[in-house]
Amino acid sequence: MEEIQVKDLTFVPFLSSDTIQARITELATILNKETAGEQPIFICILNGSFLFATDLFRQIEGDAEITFVKMASYSGTTSTGKVMTLLGLDVELYDRTVVIVEDIIDTGRTMSEFLPQLAKKGPKKVIIASLLVKPEALEHQLDIDHVGFEIDNRFVVGYGLDYDGLGRNLPAIYQLK
Ligand code: IMP
Ligand code: MG
Repeated sequence: MEEIQVKDLTFVPFLSSDTIQARITELATILNKETAGEQPIFICILNGSFLFATDLFRQIEGDAEITFVKMASYSGTTSTGKVMTLLGLDVELYDRTVVIVEDIIDTGRTMSEFLPQLAKKGPKKVIIASLLVKPEALEHQLDIDHVGFEIDNRFVVGYGLDYDGLGRNLPAIYQLK
């Protein structure tokens, strides 16, 4: 893999498509065991998580549902500190086993905004699965059940993650040079 340019910034290869897919298969195996017989409902947090949710969900066995919410906090390469819910939860989650699917947990603000909205719906169990986590950037106490990769506090693009809307279609993940 080679360096790439997205708008004005240069990015270097970080996680190959094969590496990402292998880890997703491991996460799916864990989730299949953890939710066996429960008809879990997956919640994909748009926009960034759409590819991760797709590749993960197609490896989930048995009865499972998926729904989508849309939250946004980023502008360019920095968090604005304000989380907006652009598309909220419109499904019944009472007594359900819920799996939250996130692309990346950075400051943890999105998750700490979303979890109380979810709790109001009375789910039986909430499992958080995030493809990436930046432990150094975390500002909120969160119990993240499943992490694909712990990464440095550097901006990344690709595989659903964007820089100002671009880079989401890259099959691999790249880190800011
Ligand atoms: P948090 O609310 O600070 O945890 O950030 C969560 C959201 O910010 C993620 O779901 C992403 O959409 C976005 N984000 C955080 N870090 C990055 C990054 O390095 N690249 C692209 N998007 C990011
Ligand atoms: Mg996101």
